Amino acid sequence: MNIVLLGPPGAGKGTQSGAICEKFGLLPISTGNLLRKAVREQTKLGQIAAEKISKGEMVSDDIVIGLVSEFIAGHPDTGFLFDGFPRTAAQAEALSKLIEIDTALLIDVADEIILQRMGGRRVCEVCGDTYHISANPPKVCGVCDKCGGKLVIREDDKPEIVRHRLEVYHEQTQPIIEYYRGFGKLISVPGDKTPEEVSALVNEALENV
Ligand code: AP5
Repeated sequence: MNIVLLGPPGAGKGTQSGAICEKFGLLPISTGNLLRKAVREQTKLGQIAAEKISKGEMVSDDIVIGLVSEFIAGHPDTGFLFDGFPRTAAQAEALSKLIEIDTALLIDVADEIILQRMGGRRVCEVCGDTYHISANPPKVCGVCDKCGGKLVIREDDKPEIVRHRLEVYHEQTQPIIEYYRGFGKLISVPGDKTPEEVSALVNEALENV
């Protein structure tokens, strides 16, 4: 099974990804995480990505499609959960040529909630695990539960950058929702409940596919 996870920035895609992968035996692929890894490792791709990410703009389609193609080719005989990809029409078309997508799951959250939520996000600078100061706090303040790494605020979580990311999402990524709906592959859950409630709705929706 291959699933595409859709939703605005901060909808909770990363938060839900681990449990979905565990339950359905899928391998997660997050283009945001792959790009941030390249930034940390200061590769040539990382330098290009750093500039785009810090402004809340998209990295070019050819770079991201290349990353995903390489990842898929390196992991034969497995199902994938795509998080943050595709997010343009060109990426959706390219993915359809690489692999068959069974379901696109939209986690739907209104912009006002996203803007409130993002101020409280903290991420581990080592493993990338995500927390929220009130909705999903770590056991020890400022420390990652998983690896003990330091929790930091993502540079692109500044309010003005989040606003721009939402504009980019509505302009370029939202049409993809209709693309998958057109193939009868779209399912949608509300993402404005607690993370546990969203998880239960996600499981129910995917079990019914
Ligand atoms: P990426 O990392 O993909 O960011 P995104 O899609 O904007 O999504 P986020 O990671 O911000 O949010 P999320 O939905 O995973 O929410 P999370 O679970 O963390 O991309 C970053 C950048 O990389 C892009 O802007 C672009 O520059 C580039 N890029 C990436 N992919 C690309 C592509 N395909 N093409 C071109 N460029 C690309 O949750 C958010 C917060 O809310 C957390 O604090 C969490 O704890 C909390 N939370 C989660 N669920 C709930 C809930 N139900 N209630 C309350 N709080 C909650």
